[in-house]
Amino acid sequence: MARIRRNVTQDDLEITPTIKDVAERARVSIATVSRVLAGGDGVSGELAKRVRAAVRTLNYHPNRNARNLRAGKIRTVGVVIPNIENPFFTSVVRGIENALQAAGYTLLLGDADEDPVREQLYLSTLRAEGVAGIILAPVDDKPEGYEELLSTRVPLVAIDLSPGDLSVDLVTVANARGARAAVRHLINLGHTRIGLISGPLHFSTAQERRAGYEQELTAAGLPLGADLVQLGAFREAGGHAAMRALLDLPEPPTAVFVANNLMTLGAIKAIHERGLRIPDDVAIIGFDDMPWADSLQPPLTVVAQPTYELGATAARLLLARLREPERPIRRIVLETALVVRSSCGAKGPTTGP
Ligand code: RIB
Repeated sequence: MARIRRNVTQDDLEITPTIKDVAERARVSIATVSRVLAGGDGVSGELAKRVRAAVRTLNYHPNRNARNLRAGKIRTVGVVIPNIENPFFTSVVRGIENALQAAGYTLLLGDADEDPVREQLYLSTLRAEGVAGIILAPVDDKPEGYEELLSTRVPLVAIDLSPGDLSVDLVTVANARGARAAVRHLINLGHTRIGLISGPLHFSTAQERRAGYEQELTAAGLPLGADLVQLGAFREAGGHAAMRALLDLPEPPTAVFVANNLMTLGAIKAIHERGLRIPDDVAIIGFDDMPWADSLQPPLTVVAQPTYELGATAARLLLARLREPERPIRRIVLETALVVRSSCGAKGPTTGP
């Protein structure tokens, strides 16, 4: 299905005018604006005239949602994800939705399509719509992109990674432990020259997975060859280019750990393009299970994230924050599972921590 991609510009980021904007323009208090909007009792003609002029100029419409929100009637939560086509996020959203529905909330979903500007458009729109809270899987990891949202005090829960060191609730997984389990498995199968295709190292998820890879090699007394680590941008094309670079080495690795689902697809494609066999020529383990991982030939060994539980836990965290806005920040780390099939060379399938 063709994706219609509307270029999102900064103009799209115009935020719906608020009652505060009207008060500033009319040079009156917010309370005076409210009184004029409610009929003007007790407000002089001159002030009422200035308020009505400001309302017209700003094209301000009283946000019924804001009133409902104050009255505790809003039952909508905004969810913004980087890429709706990525099965990792679709499963996360399913977990969010089911937990919210069980609590009587509905969900408004925004697909940022990996575009920070589009992500900001969704965040400002959801805020203007007056959602009760927002669950965000960030496209970017730069905190400055989210500080304004935090300043509005809209309850926010992050999934997968938290941009910078923003003080928000977060649900993620034990990335390093998951990576260690994958590398240890390859070592136990006899591999001593193991490559890594990493995501961008400014993302905490990529840093932690790389750390786990290095820790396990070091624990086994194996060298950390710089040429064995390639960056793949967490995208399919990046995984493809990174695997080609590893295969072009004078002494290519006999096994590769790939740090996310999209890069794993690209890596497998590069291996097959060379006419090489998995696992005989190159064993492979990918981070993230996928719906069709056991349908690949050979079936793919993965580090599986509890994606549904990630979403459900994030929804429960947000609901708890709605009940208790000043509760302490929570960082919840869920465990991954090594799902052994046969792309690593083992006689799978088995599943373990
Ligand atoms: O594409 C989704 C994957 O990238 C998941 O591993 C998520 O953690 C991100 O790293």
